[in-house]
Amino acid sequence: MLRHLPEQTDPNLLVGAATADDAGVYRIGRSRALVQTVDFFTPIVDDAYAYGQIAAANSLSDCYAMGARPITAMNIMGVPTDKVPPEVIAQILRGGADKVKEAGCALVGGHTIKNPEPIYGLSVTGIVNPKRALTNAKARTGDLLVLTKPLGTGIVTTAIKRGLAPEALETTVIGIMASLNTAGPELAEKGLVRAATDVTGFGLLGHLASMCRASQVGAEIDVAALPLLSEQIWELIQADCVPGGTRANLKTAESLLDANETTDAQKLLLADAQTSGGLLLCVRAARLDAVREVLHRHATPAAAAAVIGRIVRSKEPRITLR
Ligand code: CO
Ligand code: CO
Repeated sequence: MLRHLPEQTDPNLLVGAATADDAGVYRIGRSRALVQTVDFFTPIVDDAYAYGQIAAANSLSDCYAMGARPITAMNIMGVPTDKVPPEVIAQILRGGADKVKEAGCALVGGHTIKNPEPIYGLSVTGIVNPKRALTNAKARTGDLLVLTKPLGTGIVTTAIKRGLAPEALETTVIGIMASLNTAGPELAEKGLVRAATDVTGFGLLGHLASMCRASQVGAEIDVAALPLLSEQIWELIQADCVPGGTRANLKTAESLLDANETTDAQKLLLADAQTSGGLLLCVRAARLDAVREVLHRHATPAAAAAVIGRIVRSKEPRITLR
């Protein structure tokens, strides 16, 4: 669909829609660029405050994934005003505002319309030194792949909707989705990471494939090293708590995969559509300890900032599972 848009020729547009990156980057000075992004979605949990927090954390994440510091944000909201009481709307907005505040970002306004389904999110503007911006196009052969949040939010939130998720797991997944990917800008400013993206709706496979395509490389994933929200994920997959988006992601990725002995359940986890997922970082081996130190300081949720694989030489964006 984006192919039908006019081609962008502005020389200050450093990252546009062409490389399927997390945000647009527009130069406004020698060492300054604006990073702009917008995201919103329908409620994924019942708790209105948590929904607001998660939607805001997810919107801010695209800015962090570019290595930018978010400076301003605006609310985007649609509500069925005949069905949702004003207190609930206020809770959603408060959840979002609290995350924006936690990010040290100014909430400068917003826009709400009446809509048959609730939607909420933010448009976010950040600042980055264009020389330090983290795109998905600079992954190089030999880079280690580091993932900063555990996988499985699509499966678990589907289980919550069907009343199949234990309460403790629900609490865990909400906490992880609401946590901010604040490490991105520090990693970028210190030059510790070569390329980055965040893992969201297209799942780990989809976002890794975009990175491989943009960087003209391939990747290998150590399936046993993937951080999981919980071992209960396997039972939930078995109980068919798999969102439609996850199945669609797997279908799209299948032609790029060398799946070896990987089971169908593992492939579904790899393709699982994440909400407000972690950063996927390409790290030179010599920088791994320094990257882990930064991630640790930013309270990264994935156990020990998991190394899940590596970038390999390949003309095609192939992904090998081991
Ligand atoms: Co993104
Ligand atoms: Co997005």
